[in-house]
Amino acid sequence: MRQLKLAGISGSLRKNSNNTAILRTLKERLPADIELSLVPLDGLPLYSGDLEGPELPAAVAEFKAAVEAADGLVVCSPEYNAGTSGVLKNALDWASRPANASSLKGKHVLIMSSSPGFMGGVRAQAQLRETFASTLSRVVIRPPVVIAGVNDKIKEGRLVDEPNIQFALDAIAALASEIQVDRAC
Ligand code: FNR
Repeated sequence: MRQLKLAGISGSLRKNSNNTAILRTLKERLPADIELSLVPLDGLPLYSGDLEGPELPAAVAEFKAAVEAADGLVVCSPEYNAGTSGVLKNALDWASRPANASSLKGKHVLIMSSSPGFMGGVRAQAQLRETFASTLSRVVIRPPVVIAGVNDKIKEGRLVDEPNIQFALDAIAALASEIQVDRAC
């Protein structure tokens, strides 16, 4: 069976980001037939229709190509003021163009979140679900991967909470299985 290629997108640009650390950990723990490549959002300009045209800004073209090349996306978002980060929303707005025929149309997506608080960023997930629905993406429906109290669960740039790691790996396995079923159709 062909190796699955997943793109991991962290909603934080911060060097010591918890969300990036979670994706890094999962990348290292996945089975050999699932590859998770982290796609950085640094350098993406703020969306403006004036920048759209036959030639997109290089960072945007690169980001869209990474999304298109991936069999599925694993998004890990912080929660900022009860929603996702502006950085992630901006990236998804770029990826959502052209409307209804974009890099995101039909794309399988797993949403995860983390937060130092006890809700684990679940409100960011609610907003992301709406955004992905409007881009015609196919979000995995299952109990949400929320990593609460995350500041105590990251050590030396890795998630160390084993139950959280296993729950997230199971969710990625569910994403992989949906992609495989889709391929077989
Ligand atoms: C936050 N944070 C936060 N946390 C939360 O659980 N609910 C919230 O609504 C917010 N709001 C919020 C707004 C802004 C502007 C900032 C900068 C932060 C805290 C946030 O979850 C925390 O800083 C995370 O560590 C950010 O994720 P990374 O950078 O570690 O991946």
